[in-house]
Amino acid sequence: MKRIFALCAVLAFAVMAMAGCGGNSAAPASSGSGSKVLKVGSSIDFAPFEFQDETQKDYQGFDMDLIRAVGKELGYEVEIQNIGFDGLIPALEAKNIDVIISGVTINEERKAKVLFSDPYYQSGLSMIVREDNNDIHTFQDLKGKKVAVQLGTTSAAAVRKIDGVEIKEFNTPPDCFMELKTGGVDVVVNDRPVNDYYITKSGATGVKGLQDLLTAEDYGIAMNKDNKELQEKVNGALKKLKENGEYQKIYDKWFGGVSKKQ
Ligand code: ARG
Repeated sequence: MKRIFALCAVLAFAVMAMAGCGGNSAAPASSGSGSKVLKVGSSIDFAPFEFQDETQKDYQGFDMDLIRAVGKELGYEVEIQNIGFDGLIPALEAKNIDVIISGVTINEERKAKVLFSDPYYQSGLSMIVREDNNDIHTFQDLKGKKVAVQLGTTSAAAVRKIDGVEIKEFNTPPDCFMELKTGGVDVVVNDRPVNDYYITKSGATGVKGLQDLLTAEDYGIAMNKDNKELQEKVNGALKKLKENGEYQKIYDKWFGGVSKKQ
């Protein structure tokens, strides 16, 4: 009998050890694994925030540098998974990931599902048309036009509110740009800094960006609803990175020459 008890005790201990109950308080609450890994989800299709550069194995961009800096500040190893934009919040709710950083706009609808960090970037929506287009200048001109947007984004929601628009939803902004070039749509509505980067840095030809801005939006890092502890830590890290100049360095690397937005 005693031996069975002893065996049970050993087994219980082994199970606990495997489950990582060794008292590692630094673990993100949602991972429950005790390892110091921060599981990050991002839709890697949004240069200059998150994208894959053919010549490099690691994901690149402002968000990627920022979340790595946050992880470093908190003592976590950062592991980034590429998940389609409309699958990110479900993945967070299912606790497959600890945070989302993906140019996610903070809004009331999403606040019902996730916790947001303090805002880390000020954005908005703008339009891209073909170079020879002369009849679209402002968002008022979209009536009767075919518009490409990324699935599940604030662009999709905003365009839906405009009467008489034919919306075509695509998985990624690059898919939207492609559709514009091949003539399937008249205009792409997407986040302004991503549109600007596409026009000025990616060598895009035959298209032009328009000045008119629809909505002002703030990006936030999202956490699971019941991970208030991680939200506080992430906010603490963001504050520190702003104070010690690291945030500005990352900002300048990706938006150099443009004045600081926040
Ligand atoms: N800011 C917009 C939103 O929250 C678009 C974000 C898209 N992000 C991305 N990585 N594709 O809906």
